[in-house]
Parts: sequence; C-alpha cells; structure tokens
Amino acid sequence: MLIRYIPRATTPGQRLRRLFRAILYLPTRLRLCLDPAYPWINAGAVRYLRARLTPHMRGFEFGAGRSTIYFSRLMGSLVSVEHNEKWRRRVAALLQHFQIGNVVLAYAPPGEDTPHRDMRPPIWAKMGMTPRKPEFAGYFDQILAYPDAHFDLVLVDGRARVECALNAMDKIAPGGFLVLDNSEWEKYAPVFAACRGWPRRDFENGVWRTTIFCKPPNGPAPLSVPEDARAAQPGPTARRAAP
Ligand SMILES: C[S@@+](CC[C@H](N)C(=O)[O-])C[C@H]1O[C@@H](n2cnc3c(N)ncnc32)[C@H](O)[C@@H]1O
Repeated sequence: MLIRYIPRATTPGQRLRRLFRAILYLPTRLRLCLDPAYPWINAGAVRYLRARLTPHMRGFEFGAGRSTIYFSRLMGSLVSVEHNEKWRRRVAALLQHFQIGNVVLAYAPPGEDTPHRDMRPPIWAKMGMTPRKPEFAGYFDQILAYPDAHFDLVLVDGRARVECALNAMDKIAPGGFLVLDNSEWEKYAPVFAACRGWPRRDFENGVWRTTIFCKPPNGPAPLSVPEDARAAQPGPTARRAAP
C-alpha cells in the first residue's frame, strides 16, 4: 500500500500519514545522501535494471539528474533531455566531475516548437489523445528524431510523462524497457492502456511506485487499446508480472 502525499496536513490522521510517509521515505533519503549518483526512482527498479543493462545498450531519459550518472555507467550511451536550464547546467557539471563522456544532454525548455510534430506514432490517434501539455512538445518530441527500436531503455521521469511515453514506445527495441516513475498517479493511466500487452513489473516502497514495462521480444508492439483508454487504471488491480 502507498501512503500518498498530503500537501498540508491539518487533521491528526493526516499528520500521522505524513509521519508514516516520512519514515517509509527514510531508506530512500539515506541512499540518496550516501550516493549522489543513485537514481531517484524506486530501489527495486534500480536493482532490476542494474541486473539487465549492459555496455552495448542505448538509453534515453526524460528528466536528467542522478539517473543520468547512474545509467550512463551501465550502458554504452545515454541521451538525456532536460527542460530546466539551471538543472541542466548542474547535471552537466556532474557529468564533467565524474568524467562521463557517453551522454548527450539535450536542453528543451517549455515553449520551444517541435520540428517532429508530424512524426508522432499512430498510438496517439488510436487512443484519441492530444498533448495535455503542448508547451512541452519540444521536450517530448525529442525522441522522435531517432530511428524506431533504437533504444534499450527509456526512462520517463520528467515533464509531460504520458506524451513522453507514447512517443517512446516505437523507439524501444524488442526486449527493451520503458520505465515510468511515480506510476501510481491516476493521470498516467493512459500509459498503462497504451502498454497493454507489455509484461510489466511494479516496484513500490510504501511512498511511490516505479513501473517497468518490457517490450515484447517478438513481433511489433501491440497497439490495441481499450475503447476508453482512461478505463485502464495504474493501480494494483491492473498489475501483471514481467517474466
Ligand atoms: C524527479 S526528477 C528526476 C531526475 C532524474 N531522473 C533522477 O533520477 O535524478 C525530474 C525533474 O525534476 C527536476 N529536478 C530534479 N532534482 C532537482 C533538484 N534537486 N532541484 C531542482 N530541480 C530538480 C529536473 O528538472 C528533473 O528533470
């Protein structure tokens, strides 16, 4: 069970929930303090990926940070897109500090237009989706510049996550991974609908959940989606274990 974040705790029950949440978050806090290159995703997901990523693999991530350092060390190359200039500069400095040379750190601020709008995959139309955050089109369309099946890992951990995930699906090689952090949020339900048929693993720690979808190794990605994409819930009832 996850204890959801409450912005302002006013009742004793809410205060107790915030306290439990803070306690459950302690191992994460400790891990992040001890290792500046430990990704800010669920530790179970980190272990799962660490056991499977290899130096010949290519990665892409939406939302730069600790994960940029961590995954670039496990993979052959990593493209990372960041929307915040101040944060991008900090990550660039970290990459220099750790002498990491296999990362392309792209900057895509909100409001930038996209040259790739017409390259969005058919899953958009199939699901009847239009961008919810069009101001981030320059960000979530960055991945469209790459060939299909180009990446072994796509981490969706930044802005406009539904848009990023939909654009990423065709870009992932069969057997590759789509990682969605904070996947317990209802607003990310369309990602679960789009990836129906992709075996998946959910990793939760009582505070938040990271979901890893694995693209089926044989045949194209299934594009069949339910009539109402929003009907697919990202909650525990929709859970299915990856092999
Ligand atoms: C949830 S963070 C995840 C970043 C990365 N995937 C990681 O594992 O560290 C997503 C976004 O939050 C922003 N961000 C992350 N850490 C930040 C910090 N300490 N200060 C300001 N912005 C931050 C960045 O814009 C980043 O793209």
